[in-house]
Amino acid sequence: MQLQLSTWQEVQEYLKTSTGIVIPIGSTEQHGPNGLVGTDALTAEIIGRALGEKTGCLVAPTISVGMAVHHMDFTGSMTYRPSTLISVIFDYVQSLARHGFTRMMFVNGHGGNIATTNAAFYEIYSHRQSAGMDNQQVKCLLANWWEGPETKKLCADLYPEGHGSHATPSEVAVTWAAYPDRVKYVDMEPVIAPTGRFTDAADYRRRFPDGRIGSNPNLATVEDGKRIIAASVNDLSVTYRDFLAS
Ligand code: NI
Repeated sequence: MQLQLSTWQEVQEYLKTSTGIVIPIGSTEQHGPNGLVGTDALTAEIIGRALGEKTGCLVAPTISVGMAVHHMDFTGSMTYRPSTLISVIFDYVQSLARHGFTRMMFVNGHGGNIATTNAAFYEIYSHRQSAGMDNQQVKCLLANWWEGPETKKLCADLYPEGHGSHATPSEVAVTWAAYPDRVKYVDMEPVIAPTGRFTDAADYRRRFPDGRIGSNPNLATVEDGKRIIAASVNDLSVTYRDFLAS
């Protein structure tokens, strides 16, 4: 059930049965030669909405731009400053809390969002505490779609080599499963991209000239993507159920 495809009365009815909501959060940034710029927003949204279909939870509008300052030397990338993203998350949560939502699970598609999202949660808790509100009433949880046990095992089995950490075959496969007309295989040199650390956007571009880190996204297939989505939804269903009970 999507918030945006519901009427306000339907949302009111939903709140009588549950005060939980799932919020997909991603990023709009380069994903190598055959990954879509929207990969991290799309993966979070595809999996978040599939979770909504499986569990009946309400799914909020996706936060499609994230913290991607380090990707900005690649064309098409967009970013919020960390302070802006904190404000966006703060306002999402405060808006939903006003109507009675108490459990906000952010399904995340981008590793670069983790620090800022957790900072935002503490901004929210700090604000509510200062205002004398009960923090037990509103809880936020960040759930990375790739992190559950079934998903991790499946990705390790599918891609024992060349998974890497950016523009990975698993994330590319998830987007292709939902947008099969965007499947594209491209010659990449080297076949598996280098790995390593970086500082800012210029350093990233210099070390990883085509945008990939440690990955061979040509391993992705639509079929893999369907399996990864199902595995992630299974993992996140458990996370969400436990979160609601917390
Ligand atoms: Ni990504």
